[in-house]
Amino acid sequence: MRKGSGVDLFEITGGNRLRGSVTIGGAKNAALPIMAAAILVEGETVLEQVPDLADVRQMQVLLQRLGVHCERDAQGAMHLRVEDESNTHAEYDLVSKMRASVCVLGPLLAKRKRARVSMPGGCAIGDRPINLHVQGLEAIGAEYELLNGDVVLKAKRLTGAEMFLGGPFGSSVTATANVMMAATLAEGRTIIECAACEPEVVDLADFLNACGARIQGHGTPHLVIDGVPKLTGVQHRVIPDRIEAGTFMIAAAITNGDLELPGARVDHLLAVVDRLRQIGVIVERKDGGVEVSSARRLEPTQITTQPYPGFPTDLQAQVMALLCLADGNSVITEKVFPDRFLHVGELSRMGAQLRKEGPTVTVEGIKRFVGAPVMASDLRASAALILAGLIAKGTTRVHRVYHIDRGYERFEEKLSSVGAHIRRLPE
Ligand code: UD1
Repeated sequence: MRKGSGVDLFEITGGNRLRGSVTIGGAKNAALPIMAAAILVEGETVLEQVPDLADVRQMQVLLQRLGVHCERDAQGAMHLRVEDESNTHAEYDLVSKMRASVCVLGPLLAKRKRARVSMPGGCAIGDRPINLHVQGLEAIGAEYELLNGDVVLKAKRLTGAEMFLGGPFGSSVTATANVMMAATLAEGRTIIECAACEPEVVDLADFLNACGARIQGHGTPHLVIDGVPKLTGVQHRVIPDRIEAGTFMIAAAITNGDLELPGARVDHLLAVVDRLRQIGVIVERKDGGVEVSSARRLEPTQITTQPYPGFPTDLQAQVMALLCLADGNSVITEKVFPDRFLHVGELSRMGAQLRKEGPTVTVEGIKRFVGAPVMASDLRASAALILAGLIAKGTTRVHRVYHIDRGYERFEEKLSSVGAHIRRLPE
């Protein structure tokens, strides 16, 4: 059986300081929309540094069903080429397993004039509406219909328009990606205000521009896209994963260790570096990466998650584990997914003192975590439980680690290589 495809658990014996070097891989959240963008492109797209993850394999299956030939070469580069444009339906069995499947909506609409994508529904981190995706695509000329729980969008032609794409919690990463991808082939100019500024959106725009698109303002909330008649495939290297890098930075800090992280882009992690330095972690830029160490008990702090360049929601659970061991009370407020707190109950089973009120958790500093059996609920929450296990007294068993396999490449191997006692076992 392929590693990570069954039901596994991680057994961790806590107490080791992590020391050494971990190379950061390609960004999942950049690779997935760029893979979907291959639907727009004529000729071959070659993507380097696509991480080998369950979510990436899932996107490959979806694209193959949508007529995109998709395979890795011996060096690991991914080759994508559209072979059949007849299918425009992303079905429930695939979309329900991976929310990023929604990234095919804009490309299918723009290239094949019709897109039918099963509504992704909620998930462990709360409601995940797609109203902004639909609103933005309607603004450039799509007609919307809800059919048997599927979003159906049609348009004979797309026409550039000006729009505000913010929701109650600010910009949306994948809605910006979807509208930007569709607008590359629309007639005329599209302006998106309140566009997401995440580095993954910038990487997607860089890829599309290399294919012939005319996008300006990526990385700012004011995105301008001038439509072009066609896009042509290119070779592109996916940016490093800032969430994987941030997780290993926290792993170094929580174990009072010292990790070099080649590939980590400090410029994508400024809010995280700022908070870590503020609590006493030493973070130094290295040529092509970063070194993180911590030799003492950390100070408490306040953290509010926000869209980029604010502190990422995808590191909220991990930093909560870290602040549990600070010398005093910290406050964490979640402003992107206000219900994203399933890890609170599990960290409490390991001795954390956490008080949740609405979207805010007060974290009381404790001396140590105590190993326990705990349940992973979503990708980043699972990482937080593993981090806590690394420093816990005794043994921690983290169940349902398929969540980890969705988004961290060879996580236990990378941790073991720098001194962690962690092993994968069948349930
Ligand atoms: C992406 C990331 C995910 C990360 C999240 C926030 C990918 C594949 N996933 O998810 O890892 O946690 O950004 O950084 O890149 N919203 C609406 N209406 C919409 C869309 C979103 O109200 O149509 C709300 C969401 O409920 C949430 C907020 O906007 O409160 C931000 O979500 P969004 O940026 O869309 O997250 P994703 O793109 O799904």
